[in-house]
Amino acid sequence: MRYISRLPLDSPLPWPRRVAIMGSTGSIGVNTLRVLDAWAGRLGPYPAKKAGEFIVTALAGGRNIALLAAQAERWRPPVLALRDADGECGVSALKQMLPPGYRPEILVGQAGFAAIAARDDVDVIVSAQVGAAGLRATVAAAEAGKVICLANKESLVLAGPLIRSICARTGAVILPVDSEHNALFQCMTGRAPEEIRSLVLTASGGPFRGKTREELRSVRPEHALRHPNWSMGAKITIDSATLMNKGLEIIEACYLYDMPVDRITAAVHPQSIVHSLVELKDGAVMAQLATPDMRLPIAACLSWPFMLENAGIAPLDLLKCGPLTFEAPDTEAFPCLDLARRALAGGKTTELNAANEVAVERFLKNDIRFLDIPALVHTILETGEGTPPSLAENPGQSRAALEDILSRDARTRKQAAAWRA
Ligand SMILES: NC(=O)c1ccc[n+]([C@@H]2O[C@H](COP(=O)([O-])OP(=O)(O)OC[C@H]3O[C@@H](n4cnc5c(N)ncnc54)[C@H](OP(=O)(O)O)[C@@H]3O)[C@@H](O)[C@H]2O)c1
Repeated sequence: MRYISRLPLDSPLPWPRRVAIMGSTGSIGVNTLRVLDAWAGRLGPYPAKKAGEFIVTALAGGRNIALLAAQAERWRPPVLALRDADGECGVSALKQMLPPGYRPEILVGQAGFAAIAARDDVDVIVSAQVGAAGLRATVAAAEAGKVICLANKESLVLAGPLIRSICARTGAVILPVDSEHNALFQCMTGRAPEEIRSLVLTASGGPFRGKTREELRSVRPEHALRHPNWSMGAKITIDSATLMNKGLEIIEACYLYDMPVDRITAAVHPQSIVHSLVELKDGAVMAQLATPDMRLPIAACLSWPFMLENAGIAPLDLLKCGPLTFEAPDTEAFPCLDLARRALAGGKTTELNAANEVAVERFLKNDIRFLDIPALVHTILETGEGTPPSLAENPGQSRAALEDILSRDARTRKQAAAWRA
């Protein structure tokens, strides 16, 4: 497999593994801590003693400081981070919620997240903040040569070529938490790149599978938030309903596996049992099947390249799954898949991501309608020139490229906020 990182066969990581969870208060963050809890026989408070243990060195939340404080009480990491310095979700409010006698270092905002990702006492970061908010920490971890369990696909959509070039220079390892990419990773491990003909990403189809454009006109946020198979954060749930999630994942797969976009397809598989497939050059197809539970890919990343025992995931009973079906995505009713391909071809994936994030936020606030999401993204992609891939041969170039990407992100957000149907 030709991968974003140089992946040594032997583990580059010592035991115990010191983990920082960025976005610990979100769906992936909470599931990560559930995995660590399930392995708690080998875990302990900081610092742990035995090989095979994980140490939670840092937890970074956003604004849900009550949950962050509860997680901190359980795991006692020496470092915490949160989004705001002041106010009801700020540092003083968090301090008041922490147990007596426990005085962690508390960092704030994007600079704080990046500082955690680069710390010497962190081996692994779980990048699980949502959207562009996760980019700085992912890039900082890549610069510091860490192992990155990447849930934040938006990092690669915004800055795939930059992150690729940093990983090549520093030896940072990116492991895919996204269930589809983790499935591909498992199906491809041990394969030579020339043996792989194509990748097939499966998609549940979301709550509106089978609906026509006409029927989609009247759907509201509360309908779109009802995902049939997965319990996830609001943004990715809406992305699943529009199929933008699959578009973002196609871009993610291109950058992770250095695969041309015309060799990556999507198939709607409503049961979410087959998590993705790899077509080999002899015509065989490898698939990974499992109960839809994000703890599985999270556990696979945390323990890579070893496999630790089941972290509480229900085993798959094929006889109870019912028929497994596959169908082509309806790109007329759900144009976001094609918009993502077009953005990739035109060098506008940063703009795609920013426009989509703003469109989703506006939809959730009932400011625009469901079908306005692709319309807004389409308008943004029609304006301006694409940008050649940003690369970085040294940390200085990396900083400049990151700032350039973030200023394009900010510019696009303004345009998207001003868009009118
Ligand atoms: N959920 C899944 O099953 C799943 C599957 C595959 C990939 N992913 C990817 O994983 C990432 C996280 O998804 P999720 O479903 O876990 O999202 P989520 O439940 O909405 O959680 C997002 C996390 O990011 C934090 N956050 C939000 N805005 C922030 C900001 N401006 N600054 C700092 N932190 C911020 C949140 O903090 P607070 O809540 O404390 O404010 C929370 O901890 C996304 O990139 C998603 O595409 C998720």
